[in-house]
Amino acid sequence: MAATATACCGSSSFKANFRANRRNGTDSSPSSTLASSPSSSRLSFSSRVSGCSLRSQRSVPSLRMANSGNPDQVVLASAKAEPPLRIMISGAPASGKGTQCELITKKYDLVHIAAGDLLRAEIASGSENGKRAKEYMEKGQLVPDEIVVMMVKDRLLQSDSQEKGWLLDGYPRSMSQATALKGYGFQPDIFIVLEVPEDILVERVVGRRLDPVTGKIYHLTYSPPETEEIAARLTQRFDDTEEKVKLRLQTHNQNVEDVLSMYEDITLKVKGNAPKEEVFAEIDNALSKLLESRKATSESLAA
Ligand code: AP5
Repeated sequence: MAATATACCGSSSFKANFRANRRNGTDSSPSSTLASSPSSSRLSFSSRVSGCSLRSQRSVPSLRMANSGNPDQVVLASAKAEPPLRIMISGAPASGKGTQCELITKKYDLVHIAAGDLLRAEIASGSENGKRAKEYMEKGQLVPDEIVVMMVKDRLLQSDSQEKGWLLDGYPRSMSQATALKGYGFQPDIFIVLEVPEDILVERVVGRRLDPVTGKIYHLTYSPPETEEIAARLTQRFDDTEEKVKLRLQTHNQNVEDVLSMYEDITLKVKGNAPKEEVFAEIDNALSKLLESRKATSESLAA
């Protein structure tokens, strides 16, 4: 049975169609097999995380016994746990994606994968790809797919992302990236879009500072550093100028509709022009509903 959850909170609307993921076979739930050999009274446990969406799996709690063909061996396949959450978060430059990702990962313990951070790490490594990426980032343009797509795909395939679930920040940003991701079998459970008026975005960018020690995001006015010591070590991104954010915004506006069209049925639009705690409360509410709905679906399937 498929479940469709709809939640409306103030200005936001959320339609999560879980049929989509099942249909596309995107479950990446860990599964476990407990093999018992009565003759030796030995139990061996093997745990496996399936490829991102290479097979269709149902996350129905079930316990089944199967004969492996060896008369001495009975295989007990345990119930599969719910697959981990897979979230995408999108929005204009400085709409608060990174800020919300800090809060979401803290509560839901997902692996935060930010395309911009991966690119900045590549630049810091001094690689050829990093040098090329910086040329585009300085102009506020999208870094070419041949650099970004594999970078993100490889990070999504790492075992922590597969086991804990992922929170993909700032990716995909174009139809070609969304299509490539789908082709690799990565389908989110929910696509969150932060909506903030453009005049506010510029002010946010110019006042943003980063703590290189903790990675925490600050704003000189809205989210100032807690201590003098932190204030003294804050850094500013090379593309956080008024001139560059306008170019980044232009790039965002050129691509946003294409990307949205790929995730229409699982999109949650949230007004991002509110204190960060309020924005998070709305996202948190939707995620809780999503998890509850999944659980109810699993239970009704198992019944
Ligand atoms: P990226 O690093 O992703 O930058 P971005 O999309 O422009 O987004 P930002 O990181 O600037 O903002 P944010 O939404 O995370 O806001 P934050 O939470 O920090 O990308 C940089 C570049 O890399 C791109 O221009 C492109 O060239 C390249 N790139 C990246 N992804 C790519 C891809 N997929 N394909 C190709 N190229 C790619 O908040 C901003 C400020 O506002 C902070 O100071 C914060 O404290 C404050 N703030 C946040 N929330 C609130 C709130 N609710 N109220 C008040 N202040 C708030």
